[in-house]
Amino acid sequence: MSDKAVLVTGGAGYIGSHTVIELLNANQNVVIIDNLTNSSYEAVRRIEKLTEKKVTFYKVDILDKKAMLEVFKRHDIWAVIHFAGLKAVGESTRIPLDYYHNNITGTILLLEAMKESNVHNIVFSSSATVYGDPAIIPIPETLPTGATNPYGRTKQFIEHIIRDLCTAENNWNAALLRYFNPAGAHPSGILGENPLGVPNNLMPYLSQVAIGKRECLSVFGEDYDTPDGTCVRDYINVIDLAKGHLAALTKMREPNVGCAEYNLGTGHGNTVLEMIHAFSKAVGRDLKYKIVARRPGDVRNLTANPEKANKELNWKCEKTLEETCESLWNWQSKNPNGLEDCPGDAPAESIICYL
Ligand code: NAD
Ligand code: UD1
Repeated sequence: MSDKAVLVTGGAGYIGSHTVIELLNANQNVVIIDNLTNSSYEAVRRIEKLTEKKVTFYKVDILDKKAMLEVFKRHDIWAVIHFAGLKAVGESTRIPLDYYHNNITGTILLLEAMKESNVHNIVFSSSATVYGDPAIIPIPETLPTGATNPYGRTKQFIEHIIRDLCTAENNWNAALLRYFNPAGAHPSGILGENPLGVPNNLMPYLSQVAIGKRECLSVFGEDYDTPDGTCVRDYINVIDLAKGHLAALTKMREPNVGCAEYNLGTGHGNTVLEMIHAFSKAVGRDLKYKIVARRPGDVRNLTANPEKANKELNWKCEKTLEETCESLWNWQSKNPNGLEDCPGDAPAESIICYL
């Protein structure tokens, strides 16, 4: 329990909102900033409903350094969990400058605001995408990185920036968390992923097929060198992932932590067809899918070796694939349109903007 607060950037988003719940349940004080470009203020209301706690929220853009400095001035913050960023791989190939500006410039401004406010602990949302097409499965953190798209390169560059900062100034501590494929929702069915428009990712698309919003899932390729020919991914339950952030914060309270990368994954891979069958079981009926051509940029297998996080962070995944699928279906069936039907913007008094 700490009187000081943790600042969560992107805390209204999918992984951020689930992490805020875990932080509040662990009696941490939390301050959220989010510009709500890919989320809704309703997520904050639902966090409050679930935890029965008041959440401090500011509608702030991480490109607005002055606004961030104001937040640091108003609150006694000891660490930042940095989720805010654009995350759609396909979109990043069409508008790379927007991705580099939002993700990289935004992170540099955040780091500057932290430094000027004397806050030197950061947990960063990186991604398994930094490994590109990995030569070793399961993937250890020691494997060279080589992202293959602009989104992935923003993650790779930000990792370098944070690492360089920790090397130059030894009062900084950083955990670079490389997420594998987050899936599932809060078991209450009150909070979950809220994709705007057509989902890019497998599980949100599949759940929209189940609810009748999409007709049929396209399976991208069945000629990969895998047990059934479809790609293998390591699907990590969002609650386990959220708890990984608490473990990283706990680590940061130790002396001389420095900068370290951690894979957050289960260590177990599943094919696309296995995921369709697992989710169909949770829904209780077969879901329509068809095999189509490979999606450009997809890699055969991304499965984590999570041993470093297991040992050093004293953390490991606990949820089963069945629980992940059931929680996703619970959320989707109770919220067929996600948070679309709820009023989305933040109260006027929570908006700080100098841009
Ligand atoms: P999300 O889009 O749901 O959440 C990101 C949040 O950041 C959103 O609420 C958005 O409004 C906010 N945001 C974006 N740009 C901002 C800015 N300039 N200023 C303030 N807020 C801003 O995404 P998510 O799935 O929760 O992902 C969180 C982080 O984890 C992202 O950095 C993402 O790249 C990373 N990540 C996600 C996945 C995944 O599959 N979901 C996998 C690996 C890594
Ligand atoms: C991608 C990015 C990752 C990013 C994540 C969330 C890469 C290598 N990975 O993960 O960095 O954080 O999105 O934005 O760029 N699939 C289908 N049909 C669909 C959708 C997906 O068959 O409609 C398949 C894909 O081919 C893949 C698997 O399902 O094999 C998972 O895809 P997806 O959920 O999009 O995640 P990744 O591509 O692994």
